[in-house]
Amino acid sequence: MEFRRFSDRQTLANTLAEHIGLALQESITQQGRASLVVSGGSTPLPLFQQLSTLHLPWQQVIITLADERWVEPSSPGSNESLVRQHLLQHQATDATFFALKNSAKTAETGEIACERGLHNIPRPFTTVVLGMGNDGHTASLFPNTAQLSQAIDMSCNKLCAAIKSQTAPHERMTLTLPTILDAQEIILHITGVDKKAVLDQALANGPPEAMPIRFILRQQVVPVKVYWAA
Ligand code: 6PG
Repeated sequence: MEFRRFSDRQTLANTLAEHIGLALQESITQQGRASLVVSGGSTPLPLFQQLSTLHLPWQQVIITLADERWVEPSSPGSNESLVRQHLLQHQATDATFFALKNSAKTAETGEIACERGLHNIPRPFTTVVLGMGNDGHTASLFPNTAQLSQAIDMSCNKLCAAIKSQTAPHERMTLTLPTILDAQEIILHITGVDKKAVLDQALANGPPEAMPIRFILRQQVVPVKVYWAA
């Protein structure tokens, strides 16, 4: 794992956007296409805004989310709405976006359609950008959820999984661990001293199920870069 510290959140967002832009451009040059997985929550907003200003052949880029809350895209809790409002703007309007939320009533009943759509996104993903919660969750891999064991099973043969957490609002759809790890690189984007303390705790000994970000930090298959600013 590589740790990159920045003096402020905007400098982090600018540098990370530039890094992702180079990775997307390289993939487009080599394969004619690129795929980007982003996370929701509040941390990535400046990154989304910065990414949207990059001059790239965005029509060759497909974007999806690491996880989604099972709410209408018009709802303030929707990660899709964040992506649409802040990332698929300016230069990036031509990017293709695959939304994890579909018209099914529940995430559980929406799994099959979501799985089908995800199959069309080229993998390994060029870049996966993850966030982390103060309980050590990443994507919607929450500790102490009934569906966690299946979602982190490297042989689950599923791209996504419906998750019900007792601690987080809304039913969720998350990419499974093997899907997240089917990437050329993973960026963990975190800000604030609290999150740095959570990261330090995650890097210490302890069961990965208690802090699922450990499944990302402890694997040796995909390079992980942590981008942090206080
Ligand atoms: C979500 C996420 C989630 C997020 C963390 C951090 O939809 O909530 O994708 O995994 O990255 O909870 O959220 P903040 O950036 O809001 O702290």
